[in-house]
Amino acid sequence: MEDLIQQAAKDLASCKEAAALTGAGISVESNIPPFRGKGGIWEKFDPMEYAHIDAFMNDPAKVWNALLKDMKAIIDQAKPNAGHLGLARLETLGKLKTVITQNVDGLHQLAGNTDVIEFHGNFAWHFCIACKGRIRTEEMTLSEIPPRCACGGIYRPDCVFFGEMIPAQALWRSRQAAAACDLMLVIGTSAVVQPAALMPVIAKEAGAKVIEINPEPTPLTGEISDYLIQGKAGKTLSAILAELERLLQRP
Ligand code: OAD
Repeated sequence: MEDLIQQAAKDLASCKEAAALTGAGISVESNIPPFRGKGGIWEKFDPMEYAHIDAFMNDPAKVWNALLKDMKAIIDQAKPNAGHLGLARLETLGKLKTVITQNVDGLHQLAGNTDVIEFHGNFAWHFCIACKGRIRTEEMTLSEIPPRCACGGIYRPDCVFFGEMIPAQALWRSRQAAAACDLMLVIGTSAVVQPAALMPVIAKEAGAKVIEINPEPTPLTGEISDYLIQGKAGKTLSAILAELERLLQRP
């Protein structure tokens, strides 16, 4: 693992423009549970029953009570961790340009990254399914479930539910960023949800090096990624950053 951390620092030192694809795993150290694996949200809830757009439209109160209420409480409290801060530092060092994230928690922006593509939308905003009026999530009260707009319509998060399209601009910009980078960090994603999991494939096809950071292997491991650093995002990125800064300071 030490060798791979050194290797990643060297690869970052010599790259011109890195991109990152992140998933729920990078926010686990901010106390936001992942979707899959131990303690994952989909262990308790069937995503087709709770995270599909048809499920929401059929019974918004059920989805709000089971999932969205807790999600709001958790995200409202969450703070960036060493993983998010490491990626922000990589941008400051002029190495990382774009973060493509499947997360809806806004923690990359809070950490300081300025070019964040929210592939699955975000939880910072809700909109009314009737009049499309938007409200910041922190300003929305949950005195009534499901929460309602002044027009009487139900609020939904500005996230992508299963069965919905990826926002066109996010998809288009992500493909551009993946094709343009010469190094892609793939952090904390199980890489099983498409089309997000295609971004490292696009990067690889365009000649980029692909480095995974994850405690577990994924379908990309050994196929698309050049190597996997098997560890938690926060600790691993901190170690890579320390080594990278040492390399960059060398005369
Ligand atoms: P998953 O929950 O599928 O995967 C989380 C990944 O993070 C796993 O590979 C874990 O091994 C890894 N992991 C756990 N703890 C970690 C840590 N401390 N540091 C680094 N990695 C860690 O999350 P995503 O891949 O983001 O979509 O899931 C993709 C999409 O599936 C989500 O955006 C969501 C979900 O259903 C929608 O809701 C549309």
